[in-house]
Amino acid sequence: TVVDGIRVFELTAQEGTSELLPGVRTPTWGFNGDMLGPTLRASRGERVAVKVANALPEPTTVHWHGMHLPAAMDGGPHQMIEPGGTWRPEWTIDQPAATLWYHPHPHGSTEEHVYRGLAGFFLVEDGVPSGLPAEYGVDDVPVVVQDKRLDADGRLELDSDGNEVGLLGSTVLTNGVAGAMLDVTTELVRLRLLNGSTARVYDFALEDGRSFWHVATDGGLLPEPHETDHVRLSPGERAEIVVAMAPSSETTLVSRAPDLGDVAAPFAFGGNDTFPVLRLAAGASLRQSAPVPQRQAVEPGDAVDPDDAAVTRRFEVQDRSINGRTMDMDRIDETVHVGDTEIWEVTNLDRFPHNWHVHDVQFHVLDVDGAPPSPELAGRKDTVYLEPRRTYRLLMRFEDYADPDSPYMVHCHLLLHEDQGLMAQFVVT
Ligand code: C2O
Ligand code: CU
Repeated sequence: TVVDGIRVFELTAQEGTSELLPGVRTPTWGFNGDMLGPTLRASRGERVAVKVANALPEPTTVHWHGMHLPAAMDGGPHQMIEPGGTWRPEWTIDQPAATLWYHPHPHGSTEEHVYRGLAGFFLVEDGVPSGLPAEYGVDDVPVVVQDKRLDADGRLELDSDGNEVGLLGSTVLTNGVAGAMLDVTTELVRLRLLNGSTARVYDFALEDGRSFWHVATDGGLLPEPHETDHVRLSPGERAEIVVAMAPSSETTLVSRAPDLGDVAAPFAFGGNDTFPVLRLAAGASLRQSAPVPQRQAVEPGDAVDPDDAAVTRRFEVQDRSINGRTMDMDRIDETVHVGDTEIWEVTNLDRFPHNWHVHDVQFHVLDVDGAPPSPELAGRKDTVYLEPRRTYRLLMRFEDYADPDSPYMVHCHLLLHEDQGLMAQFVVT
């Protein structure tokens, strides 16, 4: 609903139960329902507000992952909502069209709250015609992929069994459903893939090995669609892909064992790494789709010039620390200035997986160990997988929203690591 020119959404975090496996009710948490949450959609330039209510038995928060917005509206660990309490952030959408999402961020419990089912999509639109399939739920479909582990009674197991990366489940849910399938009615279908898992890295591919178009990363459209046969996503990352279907054909989007880089053997995730994610079944006659455009326009105001970078910051990720320190809610780790373009140089010193998520901004991966990034990292990103022993140089600009009192977070999105302290705070002044 739009009230006084503000688009108002309502979200209630609540307890429920879901039939994740046939005939078994599993206790889960959801927004406005038993599990996951509604897709929120708003356009660039629009003023939005969200009335968030917490009907859970414990405090939580709701963070708008990938959104450029004031830190006090960000829903990080400083914006806690007590049980029975409410919170009403309000901001103006000011970024290119992108597949964003929302999830809780209470420090120390983020893994558990997300794992229990609290997550939803936030789709940002802009006025720029993309030429891509865009009919929501028909040929433009959000797909959140999450792994769970269920005990004999059907309850979600939360124990990561001492696994350093966090919980790895053997049941993969797609939009909350095991064995998900999509009826395809158009020649091209756009899937907005979100890795909503707490620890698992996926490598998405079609079971027949066919190629598809990778058209967008976390923060929006790639400058040029990239034809590929797989896309790796670590927790929190998104990829939009466009799949071509022939009439009456079927294929399955699967996840295969990802290439995690130079990890030590115990972190290779073991054997059960290939999962069906989404079966695609095309009807006998398909509506014609426009071909995938070869280039996407970048609005001049959205471009960031590496030559403008005046500040370089170094971050070393090791075990649960950043530059030797673990998260302290009362310590500001970095101060950046409005208007500055910066390069953040991030190294994973471990031999196991981490990734790197920055609130407030979208960044560009300038290089990885000095070499140009692979094509799927060419676009706007807010989360990037950190292969062991590699250095990623990330370019970003802090445009506005100075607030010395409210920090933004930067952290590993393997949520166990985040909860255990692999997180730092920065303010924009
Ligand atoms: Cu998706 Cu700081 O989180
Ligand atoms: Cu990590």
